[in-house]
Amino acid sequence: MRSREIRLKSRPHGAPGAENFELAEVEVPSPAAGEVQVRNRWMSVDPYMRSRMIDRPSYVPPFQIGKPLEGGAIGVVTTSASEDFTPGDLVLSMLGWREAFTAPAKHLTKLETHGLPEQAFLGAAGMPGLTAWVGLLKIAEAKAGDTVFVSGAAGAVGSVVCQIAKAKGCTVIGSAGGAEKLEFLREIGVDHGFDYRQEPDLAAALARVAPKGIDVYFDNVGGDHLEAAMTAARPFARFAICGAISQYNDLEAAPGPKNMFFVIGKRLKLQGFIVSDHLAETPHFLRDLSGWVRSGKMKWRETVDQGIEAAPGAFSKLFTGGNIGKMLVKLGD
Ligand SMILES: NC(=O)c1ccc[n+]([C@@H]2O[C@H](COP(=O)([O-])OP(=O)(O)OC[C@H]3O[C@@H](n4cnc5c(N)ncnc54)[C@H](OP(=O)(O)O)[C@@H]3O)[C@@H](O)[C@H]2O)c1
Repeated sequence: MRSREIRLKSRPHGAPGAENFELAEVEVPSPAAGEVQVRNRWMSVDPYMRSRMIDRPSYVPPFQIGKPLEGGAIGVVTTSASEDFTPGDLVLSMLGWREAFTAPAKHLTKLETHGLPEQAFLGAAGMPGLTAWVGLLKIAEAKAGDTVFVSGAAGAVGSVVCQIAKAKGCTVIGSAGGAEKLEFLREIGVDHGFDYRQEPDLAAALARVAPKGIDVYFDNVGGDHLEAAMTAARPFARFAICGAISQYNDLEAAPGPKNMFFVIGKRLKLQGFIVSDHLAETPHFLRDLSGWVRSGKMKWRETVDQGIEAAPGAFSKLFTGGNIGKMLVKLGD
């Protein structure tokens, strides 16, 4: 079987562009004993992949120049030399950015969709959804009556955070870029949305929509958003520091929030987290999620680009705001 894959051609200097990627065609070997051959149907592009393009030690190793990229993917088994899989099985792997592959069976997870669309397991029912659930409920300990501010609110993680917070009885404030995203925030029940591009004085925007301040901040963006959230925080507010996408393409480290001293006077709790430390919570998260889906409290949107050659452009959209909800690439049936 032939497969096309996307390789890292060069490390991005600032925003990632087409010049950083190359498309290559390879022969996919037949599976040896214990291996499985898979044709991918969906692949995910995620902001954390930008960090893996930098050659430095981190919680995941950097991507290598000339090698295919990796990431979440859903595919179907075409040939199996493992007793654990049969042709036709739907599988989740970290072998995205390619149309097909052969890998040891231990690198695959059989996917039971429970009636949900399969690609939801790369979004609201997958890693981004678990990130939202862990960050909001375990790290920030959001509870009924809290005022919760979510940045990047119209994205894969943010839109799930907003809806979990509503399901838990919180008042929800969301920031996002552009009118279409604000309309989406209204559709998913966000109480107050604001467009951070139109209202660059974020502290003033927060004071307008949350005059009594915020109890929880779910940070997807960092930088100015974090600083404004510290100004808006009420005493003992809890911050789940999930991401800092406004800084991932920076060539030099940005200065920290200039109001850091609020952490002391307001007795704030800021905690970073990585979702992969919390995978054991997956069954609990999926039980909650299916309840919210059944009761109409959880919806999601996807932005889908077609074909492996579209993957670098889909990845770049994460940094220009070109996606609403989960950014996905469809790789054929
Ligand atoms: N800690 C963890 O384990 C973990 C796991 C998953 C994701 N994350 C983090 O969670 C965040 C969201 O990830 P996601 O997968 O859900 O992505 P996403 O929100 O679906 O997509 C990225 C969004 O970020 C916004 N953005 C890009 N540049 C920005 C800037 N300079 N200022 C403000 N907003 C900007 C854009 O929306 P706008 O149009 O609204 O600007 C864009 O659509 C990321 O920071 C990611 O790294 C962390």
